[in-house]
Amino acid sequence: MKKIVVLTGAGISAESGIATFRDANGLWEGHDVMEVATPEGWQANPALVLEFYNQRRKNGLEAQPNAGHLALVELEKHFEVEIITQNVDNLHEKAGSSNIIHLHGEIFKSRSTIDSGLIYDIEGWELNMEDTCEKGSQLRPHIVWFGEDVPMIEVAVEKIADADAVLIIGTSLAVYPAAGLVGYAPSDCPVYLIDPNANDLTVIRDNVHKIAEKGSVGVPKVVEELISNKN
Ligand code: OAD
Repeated sequence: MKKIVVLTGAGISAESGIATFRDANGLWEGHDVMEVATPEGWQANPALVLEFYNQRRKNGLEAQPNAGHLALVELEKHFEVEIITQNVDNLHEKAGSSNIIHLHGEIFKSRSTIDSGLIYDIEGWELNMEDTCEKGSQLRPHIVWFGEDVPMIEVAVEKIADADAVLIIGTSLAVYPAAGLVGYAPSDCPVYLIDPNANDLTVIRDNVHKIAEKGSVGVPKVVEELISNKN
């Protein structure tokens, strides 16, 4: 069965009511990124960081997948599909996709600050000061912050290097190493870029099919095309 690798970013969740990053002028919901999404910010004010993610999580609880997420579930009926998402929301899971790699972590999980292998589901939306892991250390959001390693990048590279087609959806391709992944796709593999801003985005390879549409419109279109050209 042919393998399709899908790289998603904040744009696929925009129509589910989750704000993208760069459309907000570098401020995330009114906060300086350096204060809420870096190890230094965490050291300086962990309570602020926890509160910031609590609010994001609270909003995320209500969010529902849109037609873009759902079209990717349909794609699985015809192809082997691997989703590599930069998003920390759980909308691909809620939609029902099977194979999902979270490059930048997951907002509905927490992690020990002394043992990164200790990862827990968060029930509801709150993670607070003095919530601790089983070894007694403070829990932090299970998110990859700026300046931190991206542990899942190697497995993502392996997947994309083996793709028969690649879909890139709703990402400004501004953040590395995620933005560099497409460079590992086989040179003869078609790449589709679905983003309302597609024509202004730079992709580090030739022959990219750019579809300048919102995810809810562009993703079902491309999925339909892939399915009808399958044989
Ligand atoms: P950005 O906010 O940088 O880019 C969002 C993209 O979504 C833009 O290219 C928009 O044109 C596009 N977009 C907006 N509305 C859309 C819609 N309805 N359908 C499809 N696309 C739409 O978000 P990312 O590229 O995901 O990292 O950002 C990458 C990383 O930067 C994030 O994962 C986050 C941030 O720093 C971490 O949290 C570590």
